[in-house]
Amino acid sequence: MEEEEEEEEEEIKITASYEQKDVLTSGNAEIDKKIGGGIPVCSLTLIEGPNAAGKSVLTQQIAWGAAQQGFTVASYTTENTAKSLLKQMDSLAFDVSDYFILGKFKIYPIRVRGTEWMEDVPFLNHIASDMERKEEEVILIDSLNVFVSHASERDVIDFFTACKNLCDSNRTILITLHDYVFSEEMLTRVRSICDAHLSLRIEEMENKLVKTMKVAKIRGAQKTTGNIIAFEIEPGFGFRIIPLSKAKA
Ligand SMILES: Nc1ncnc2c1ncn2[C@@H]1O[C@H](COP(=O)(O)OP(=O)(O)OP(=O)(O)O)[C@@H](O)[C@H]1O
Ligand SMILES: [Mg+2]
Repeated sequence: MEEEEEEEEEEIKITASYEQKDVLTSGNAEIDKKIGGGIPVCSLTLIEGPNAAGKSVLTQQIAWGAAQQGFTVASYTTENTAKSLLKQMDSLAFDVSDYFILGKFKIYPIRVRGTEWMEDVPFLNHIASDMERKEEEVILIDSLNVFVSHASERDVIDFFTACKNLCDSNRTILITLHDYVFSEEMLTRVRSICDAHLSLRIEEMENKLVKTMKVAKIRGAQKTTGNIIAFEIEPGFGFRIIPLSKAKA
């Protein structure tokens, strides 16, 4: 068992397959394996978790993998400018600059910092219509927090339903969210609209803080449901899965 885990740990990042287009790969074979092969195309995925749990890095990892697979990618970001996102991705060895130059990886920064942003925050339905006008196959929103914290429950459900409808017209959408922005009941309703649901956590395991990802739901991949993965984020690499036994040690 020990040996097997060591072996797994040493597995290096494997470049995504260029042929398989029914799932988005993360560009990291180990993560893909844990999530049942990858994120199914034309699906809506919710990535939830607290601060610094790895939501942004996970979307960057998937954006990089998807771009390598030949998908066109649009990234809405409330955390970065185009330049800072490219720099951040580059620091994790997700070099998407060529895709960016070729227009295959588009970045849409949504400015939320500064004093007047409260008045300026676009409504959820504006974001949904903007997404509808975009042509990219993969759409990432990192993060939805500021939009939902001022929206009514009805607007939130309508937004996720609109995203789901967009998935029926060939889009694969991933949305990050702090789970505390919703009540448990709302969270359950939102999760039920999504096809996939990844829950990131920072957990204390024997006096050590460990990042974990629970694959709570992935459409069409029954076996992965409930999978818990411990990982760390390594500069120049991205997500690195660590065996749970090591995480606890
Ligand atoms: N380029 C990098 N090199 C090393 N570590 C990084 C890098 N980028 C992010 N990290 C680390 O990865 C962890 C997760 O960061 P990430 O930004 O993905 O969290 P998050 O869940 O999006 O948090 P937030 O809710 O605040 O946006 C943090 O501990 C962060 O310090
Ligand atoms: Mg983030």
